[in-house]
Amino acid sequence: MNTKPQKILVTGGCGFIGSNFVRYWLEHHSNDHVVVYDKLTYAGRRENLQDLWSNPRLTFVQGDIADQATVREACVGHQINLIVNFAAETHVDQSILGPLVFTDTNVRGTHVLLEVARELGLRLHHISTDEVYGHIAAGHQSAETDPLAPRSPYAASKAAADQLVQAYFITYGLPVTITRGANNVGPYQHPEKAVPLFATNALRGEALPVYGDGLQQRDYAHVLDHCTGIETVLLRGQPGEVYNVGTGEEMTNLEMVNIVLRELGGDPGLVRHVQDRPGHDRRYSMNVNRLRALGWTPQYHPRDAVAHAARWYAQNRWWWEPIREGTFREYYERQYGQRLAERSS
Ligand code: NAD
Ligand code: TYD
Repeated sequence: MNTKPQKILVTGGCGFIGSNFVRYWLEHHSNDHVVVYDKLTYAGRRENLQDLWSNPRLTFVQGDIADQATVREACVGHQINLIVNFAAETHVDQSILGPLVFTDTNVRGTHVLLEVARELGLRLHHISTDEVYGHIAAGHQSAETDPLAPRSPYAASKAAADQLVQAYFITYGLPVTITRGANNVGPYQHPEKAVPLFATNALRGEALPVYGDGLQQRDYAHVLDHCTGIETVLLRGQPGEVYNVGTGEEMTNLEMVNIVLRELGGDPGLVRHVQDRPGHDRRYSMNVNRLRALGWTPQYHPRDAVAHAARWYAQNRWWWEPIREGTFREYYERQYGQRLAERSS
């Protein structure tokens, strides 16, 4: 598709969406070289790309995006001309338990990338989220021009990063673009997130902790559609612009849970309504016409995306079983121990 060779620094390339993007990009852009730059937090796993590390067009650098000297060294040393920033702390519940690291990585880290890009004259594409728009009332779909109204520490840190990225375009003319993705599902998503948590709990015969009434609405988009959306913006997006990436169709969390259970033959009696998440956004919904106008269309309906993801967890126990041991157990107990003990139904 793209003929001009690129050397791309993919930050957060060992995480869920980043690793799917790296796999997609290497397969579809045979002239390009990808350097994965990742701190390897609890959410980053080299095994997400285990089949690809022998590829001469893929390199790994371990580092923190908030560490300016190491980011600069990676960009200069590998002659990078494009940074795609996936690196972030990404889980709302973790941001409620321990918010400061979200500012360190999502705000300061993005700012450091912008400074390095400005110094070296690089293009930067930033991955953002629909959560920056906050709760969306029934009947409305967020447009890229809507005001930002984040409500969790995670969403607030992502909104701050978006505004820094836009400020660098306005102030310095830095060639930047932003995509705001809907809830992604698919292979290699950490089991702290809803769909892999429910799928792996169902496979283990454990309770599925649904927050509150489960009638919150999300656009569960397939990660590959997110990857092609980012690709479209990298190839045809306008500098300084923001593009929403999702299907534009929502379902309730209970509908999502039912798809997971049906797909895995799980017992519906495993569903437990537990104490809600504080500040839980009731609905996200985006208008994706701006990206469609560039020729992009999603391939998966959210129903198929959730079913496809659930099947992947059934077929890839090797990947998630070790993750659910170790520190994840402590997190699970902290997040759900009390909730499951005092369940409301
Ligand atoms: P993830 O948590 O699976 O992966 C994050 C990756 O970033 C990990 O590999 C981690 O090691 C790395 N990382 C964290 N802090 C770092 C730091 N300081 N320096 C370098 N690397 C660091 O996240 P994800 O779900 O793949 O999300 C990727 C991006 O997409 C994030 O920016 C997130 O906000 C955004 N996003 C996610 C979703 C979703 O549904 N998962 C939806 C929309 C947007
Ligand atoms: P999540 O995957 O954490 O994404 P986000 O909060 O960024 O949308 O959660 C998706 C939805 O599922 C959200 O409405 C919260 C809900 N949820 C539960 O009901 N129970 C859970 O244990 C988790 C992790 C999420």
